[in-house]
Amino acid sequence: MDLYEYQAKDLFAAHGVPVLPGDVATNPADAKAIAAKFGQPVVVKAQVKTGGRGKAGGVKLASTAEETEEKATAILGLDIKGHIVHRVLVTPASDIAEEYYFSFLLDRANRTFLAMASVEGGMDIEEVAATKPEALAKIHIDAIKGVDAAKAEEIADAANFPAEVKDQVVDTIVKLWETFVSEDATLVEVNPLVRDPQDKIVALDGKVTLDENAGFRHPAHAELVDKAAENPLEAKAKEKGLNYVKLDGEVGIIGNGAGLVMSTLDVVAYAGEQYGVKPANFLDIGGGASAEVMANGLDVILGDEAVRSVFVNVFGGITACDAVANGIVKALEILGDSATKPLVVRLDGNNVEEGRAILAEANHPLVTVVDTMDNAAAKAAELAAAGV
Ligand SMILES: Nc1ncnc2c1ncn2[C@@H]1O[C@H](COP(=O)(O)OP(=O)(O)OP(=O)(O)O)[C@@H](O)[C@H]1O
Ligand SMILES: [Mg+2]
Repeated sequence: MDLYEYQAKDLFAAHGVPVLPGDVATNPADAKAIAAKFGQPVVVKAQVKTGGRGKAGGVKLASTAEETEEKATAILGLDIKGHIVHRVLVTPASDIAEEYYFSFLLDRANRTFLAMASVEGGMDIEEVAATKPEALAKIHIDAIKGVDAAKAEEIADAANFPAEVKDQVVDTIVKLWETFVSEDATLVEVNPLVRDPQDKIVALDGKVTLDENAGFRHPAHAELVDKAAENPLEAKAKEKGLNYVKLDGEVGIIGNGAGLVMSTLDVVAYAGEQYGVKPANFLDIGGGASAEVMANGLDVILGDEAVRSVFVNVFGGITACDAVANGIVKALEILGDSATKPLVVRLDGNNVEEGRAILAEANHPLVTVVDTMDNAAAKAAELAAAGV
């Protein structure tokens, strides 16, 4: 889960990383009131979960409270790379002597953590990384040892931080590492990390990505979810404990096991090419596919208006095919009239004959049983195309 800048900086503050105060406004009048509270000048900053806000006109200086209102009016509603600005952060303007860059991230390719730091931070860090890679220090972090003051000093030296601010930078790096570890983040980024004319270090911007798989360890993180921005189907699936991702297509997908579902997406994408249809979602109902889980899954998928057909692809393992077939039959009973779209079912594995017999016996008008995965994908694509 990506956080907004103001949320990231709240976490920073909680871990002792120096940040400026700030408040969030959803309308220009509130922005003006915040500016009046802090005193001017202030900076008005678009809160969207994408980069390059400054260049898109989403970060503006205001020298009076009235001007803050004007700048907020201009920024609220802006479309920044497809993200509409619904709130702005109003924060005191800082005098800036130098802008640095710092981040901790998960380096998947090397199966470790990585610190990146540069004294040439600011809005063009991507440009620096591409054209002057030697100006961006990259230091691997041993996950067990972590980052203590000595390691932080090694990072600061590799990036050539100036002597006058090195102690503060080292201290900030250690606190950012504490933030990274104790919040279970996969990214903590500060750009710019600023040196002001009095040689004080402050994080002027913040970007944090939290690992949702660790969410159970952090009840407080639930409050950081932007419910209004969540896809309603994904929110419903999450509520029911389903592993669901909404995609753009027309063929709903249910499978048991993430690997099988991924392969199902591939075969449906391939089979759908000639019909111009694609998978509508990823949904893994896992091992114990009870009738209730099947009903919940179908309910979420059928709630997607774009869905024209559903492909249920099940490999009977510990939960055998007959249990899954019973689950499908019961799920259709539970859903009753709200099940309206054709279902293509492919069963294989443990007790497959019994499973197919149960579906044949039930003889539900919406269900077509197809023996192989490829043929079932083709059938589901054909039905989706016919239903468009
Ligand atoms: N409080 C502030 N006072 C003075 N200048 C600021 C302040 N906040 C930001 N700036 C200036 O605006 C620039 C852009 O701000 P910021 O880094 O927050 O957004 P961005 O880099 O455009 O967005 P993103 O990091 O999402 O790409 C900074 O590099 C800094 O020069
Ligand atoms: Mg920035």
